[in-house]
Amino acid sequence: MLKINDINVYYGNIHALKGVSLDINQGEIVTLIGANGAGKSTLLKTISGLLKPKTGEIIFENVNVAGKLPQLIVKRGISQVPEGRRVFANMTVEENLELGAYLRKDKKEIREDFDKVYQLFPRLEERRKQLSGTLSGGEQQMLAMGRALMARPRLLLLDEPSMGLAPLLVKTIFRIIEEINKTGTTILLVEQNAHMALSIADRAYVIETGKIVADGSAAELSNSDQIRKAYLGGH
Ligand SMILES: Nc1ncnc2c1ncn2[C@@H]1O[C@H](COP(=O)(O)OP(=O)(O)O)[C@@H](O)[C@H]1O
Ligand SMILES: [Mg+2]
Repeated sequence: MLKINDINVYYGNIHALKGVSLDINQGEIVTLIGANGAGKSTLLKTISGLLKPKTGEIIFENVNVAGKLPQLIVKRGISQVPEGRRVFANMTVEENLELGAYLRKDKKEIREDFDKVYQLFPRLEERRKQLSGTLSGGEQQMLAMGRALMARPRLLLLDEPSMGLAPLLVKTIFRIIEEINKTGTTILLVEQNAHMALSIADRAYVIETGKIVADGSAAELSNSDQIRKAYLGGH
């Protein structure tokens, strides 16, 4: 579904992604794990068109989308849930969700997707008239996910959805990610919480200072001594 070939991304002189290649098959949950500053968000932003790679290709469903405008990439079927949620604080839950569908025209399908999002996140329905800035961190994460789903993506990019959430909520969020995947949405999940990410993923990549240093099935990586020491607290 997605094939990234040897991309290089820079911030000025800083070489943030160094020849990164990665594949995602339709239907998978793939996780990208790595420490703070490794380049995880940079990779997601490059896929979603917020950053332009200097070289390399990003082939999504047979089309090279590298360097294309973000709204064209959303239209093609990729949406991103950004790090830190980034909900519009002064707008209601419902208005934030409507914005997620802003490139779409079919009112009936949009209505159906509102229902689907409210089924996944009953909390959001209860709070649909509430200003988003007054939601808890977990609820804002749900809203950011719901907003991305309102674009009806075939590939969903999630940037550290568990960040700053209490353990019980982290479990809920990961359960919902699995549910979203079961309804046919392919997922690229970026996480520092390697343990949780590997527990739901099919395959994983490990990134260190802008380079992919390991990849394999989630089970293989969970059992690798090197990965256990560096990312799983040595257990
Ligand atoms: N806007 C920016 N300008 C300059 N350097 C940046 C910018 N954003 C990120 N970087 C640098 O790029 C590297 C990768 O950052 P990032 O992709 O945010 O890492 P991660 O998401 O894995 O924590 C880091 O060294 C970071 O300091
Ligand atoms: Mg990041």
